[in-house]
Amino acid sequence: MKGVVLAGGLGSRLYPLTKITNKHLLPVFNKPMIYYPIQALVNAGITDILIVTGGNSAGHFLQLLRNGADFGLQRIHYAYQEGEGGIADALKLAESFAEGEEIAVVLGDNIIEGNIKKAVDDFKKQGGGAKILLKEVHDPERFGVATIKDGKVVKIVEKPKAPESNLAVIGIYMFDPAVFDICRTLKPSSRGELEITDVNNEYVRRGNLTYEVLKGWWTDAGTFESLYRSATLIRENGANRMDV
Ligand code: DAU
Repeated sequence: MKGVVLAGGLGSRLYPLTKITNKHLLPVFNKPMIYYPIQALVNAGITDILIVTGGNSAGHFLQLLRNGADFGLQRIHYAYQEGEGGIADALKLAESFAEGEEIAVVLGDNIIEGNIKKAVDDFKKQGGGAKILLKEVHDPERFGVATIKDGKVVKIVEKPKAPESNLAVIGIYMFDPAVFDICRTLKPSSRGELEITDVNNEYVRRGNLTYEVLKGWWTDAGTFESLYRSATLIRENGANRMDV
């Protein structure tokens, strides 16, 4: 199984911090943000990794990460996203890298306390489809929100005004190779992006999307509040450390 870290986009919610640098290069306590999603994949046993980035400071990823020695890797693959067409638009760039294998995708601003190895192993046994990870949150309107019925996800709504649950879809997804065909069918949403939620809803429609509820803390780091919170969580508890 291969890994993909999506680190494109303009990070406009963090202006002016992201005016001259990429959001994922900003510090989160003692490391650049991008270190945490890469480490999450490596901890799950995934060592063939593609970083998708974009914008003006894209070259800094190469300078920072080089061939991945800080993670015990021998090489890292890179792809460049033109513009910020959304998470599913960035994901399209992983098709040739995936070479028909299953992939684990981590958003570059998502940080977890635990280890996703068990979820990855469960997905490998699933026989295709997709798997998402959910986490109870107090502010579901900021995220994709899943509705569960009889132990199954029946729908996901992106940033709902009136959320039907408090289960946020976190930015770690596992997909079979059909994901790239699904991405090709997507139309831009009202915010002008190809939405990962539309991809996941297509797997719901096909009846082959499973979920697990993540143990340990999870945060994104794409707003001032969540960036601050993530640094505090790491300072107090560390990240990517416990087996869940
Ligand atoms: O953090 C989890 C949430 O991430 C999910 O609950 C939502 O369903 C999902 O849509 C996403 O929501 P956000 O609105 O917070 O996503 P954001 O635009 O902040 O992008 C998250 C990461 O995705 C970003 O750090 C880098 C990557 N990305 C994003 C865009 C828009 C790209 O690589 N390219 C892009 O064009």
